[in-house]
Amino acid sequence: MQRNFLETDRVTVAFGGIVALKDVSLSVVQGKTTAILGPNGAGKTTLFNAVAGAVRPTSGKVYFQGADITNASPSRRCHAGIARTFQITQPFGGLSVRENVMVALAARGVTMKEARAEASTYIDFVGLNAKAEDPARILSTGQRKRLELARALSTHPKLLLLDEVTGGVDRPSIPELLDVIRRLREERGITIVVVEHNMEVLLGLADNAFFLNRGEVVVTGSVEEVADHEAVRRIYLGDADVAA
Ligand SMILES: Nc1ncnc2c1ncn2[C@@H]1O[C@H](COP(=O)(O)OP(=O)(O)O)[C@@H](O)[C@H]1O
Ligand SMILES: [Mg+2]
Repeated sequence: MQRNFLETDRVTVAFGGIVALKDVSLSVVQGKTTAILGPNGAGKTTLFNAVAGAVRPTSGKVYFQGADITNASPSRRCHAGIARTFQITQPFGGLSVRENVMVALAARGVTMKEARAEASTYIDFVGLNAKAEDPARILSTGQRKRLELARALSTHPKLLLLDEVTGGVDRPSIPELLDVIRRLREERGITIVVVEHNMEVLLGLADNAFFLNRGEVVVTGSVEEVADHEAVRRIYLGDADVAA
């Protein structure tokens, strides 16, 4: 059977009595940017965890580039080309921006000399050159998000999962962050899946969208179709209890 670049096939994730995902079938086309939408607690981060391997589905399958990776370890998935960034960024605050990227590279077993040179490429790509020798703890939220992107790049990803990448970022810093994300796709050919709440951002970034509510996919389609959908508008207008 011909499968898309990334697919989850009826993935269910239960934490004890809490069903965080219920029969979620996600399909991501290579080269397209896919958005995951939904209110707090809808299961978006859990879906990323199931794809990256941090969480094992209770039932269902995960396929990447046609291979069943449902039982693969997180590090095998990373080798296969899956990378992610976190909703809450976790840099080593006492290390410089460059050292933070070098640590990520060292995990791949490259020498210090190679790591230093390669780190420069990624720091440059995300536009943090001027901050390269500064400790990560003094970065703004937007700069931290860009550092996370540089660290993710160091694993040579084919698929990048971005969890609330503009969350907590001050408005003036959002355009340059979005520019980096667009260039990940255009210049590096990376397929992106993004959790994002801001509709304006999504419409400028994503091709397709999946709307989750209470662990289930409620609406899918082009990002324009999903943004216009009545159920999405109703839930996003604040009434998160409305069952669609
Ligand atoms: N490790 C966990 N243990 C128990 N419950 C969890 C765990 N991770 C997530 N959940 C629960 O699963 C549901 C979905 O959470 P999450 O995926 O973080 O949602 P979202 O990212 O859409 O806000 C929530 O009810 C949350 O409390
Ligand atoms: Mg989340």
